[in-house]
Amino acid sequence: MLSISSKEFLFWKKKQLSKGGNHQAFALLLDCIGGITNEDQNLLTINSQTELHIKKNLYYLESVWDDHLINSSPIQYHCGITYWRDLKLKVTDKVLIPRPETELIVDIVSNIFGKKSQKLLFAELGTGSGAISISLALAYPLWNGIATDIERDALEIAINNFKNSSNQTNLKFYCGHWWAPFESFKGKIDLAISNPPYIPKETYEKLPKEVKDFEPKIALLGGEDGLQHIREIIQKAPLFLREKGWLILENHFDQGEKVKKLLIKNRFELVEIVKDLSGVGRFTIGRYK
Ligand SMILES: C[S@@+](CC[C@H](N)C(=O)[O-])C[C@H]1O[C@@H](n2cnc3c(N)ncnc32)[C@H](O)[C@@H]1O
Repeated sequence: MLSISSKEFLFWKKKQLSKGGNHQAFALLLDCIGGITNEDQNLLTINSQTELHIKKNLYYLESVWDDHLINSSPIQYHCGITYWRDLKLKVTDKVLIPRPETELIVDIVSNIFGKKSQKLLFAELGTGSGAISISLALAYPLWNGIATDIERDALEIAINNFKNSSNQTNLKFYCGHWWAPFESFKGKIDLAISNPPYIPKETYEKLPKEVKDFEPKIALLGGEDGLQHIREIIQKAPLFLREKGWLILENHFDQGEKVKKLLIKNRFELVEIVKDLSGVGRFTIGRYK
C-alpha cells in the first residue's frame, strides 16, 4: 500500500475527470485497481487532512484511465470486475459485460413466481458471466438452476463468479449449443431465460468501438436479421419446457413484435412484451401451453 495526501489525490482526480469519461467508470477504476472506495472518498470531503492508502500509484492509474479514454476500452475489462444488481462479478473479454437493462429479468421472474416460491427448475441459455443465473440461484435457494454457454472460457468465469458469490450448490453449468446440453431435462424445465446474441448483422457493423472492438462477437451477433438464435431457442423450447413452463427472452429494441409472433406460432400463451426502464420493449415472455 502507498500513502498519498488527500490534496494531491483530489488535484489528480480533477485533472483525470477533466479529460472526459464518466464518474461511474472512474469510481470503478479507483475502487478495483486503486483500492479507493467511495467511502474513502466521502471521508476526504469530511476531513481533508486524511492520508489516502492506494494499491497502485497515480501514474499507473492514470495510464489505465488514458487507455480507456483514448482506445474506448471498457473500464470493466481493465478492472476485471463489474457490478450487476447486488453482485460483484469477474469479467474478462471472453464475456459480455452484463448490462444494467438486463437486471430487470430478475424482477420479471419474481413478478411471475412471487418472492418465495416452491422448488422449481430454471435454465439459462447463454449465461456469459453467469449474472442472471447466479442472481436467481441466490434469490431462490430452493430452486435448481442449469446454465449453458457455447464458450468454455465464459463458463469458467461464470463458475468462478458463482463460487465467489456464495456457498450454494443449486446452480450447475454445461457447455454446448443452446438446448443441446439439456437432453436429460426434456419436459422438466419450469422456467427458461435467455439474453441471446440478437444484434442484426448490419447494426453489428456499426456498433460503437467500445462494444465492437472489445466485447465477444459471439455474444452479440444474431445473424442477418438478429433473430437467428431467438428463432432456434423458441422453436426447441416446447421440447424442454414443462407444461405451463415460462420462457423469458431479451431482444433488440425493435424485435418485440416479431418475437411475440414467433412465440404464438410455437404454441405459447400469455405472450407479452415487457418494457425496460427507458420504455423500450426489451423483453418478450410467454407460457408454454
Ligand atoms: C448477449 S450474451 C448474454 C450473456 C449473459 N447472459 C448476460 O445477460 O450478460 C449471449 C451469450 O450467449 C452465448 N452464446 C452464443 N452462441 C451460443 C450458442 N450457440 N449456444 C450457447 N450459448 C451461446 C455467448 O457466448 C454469450 O455468453
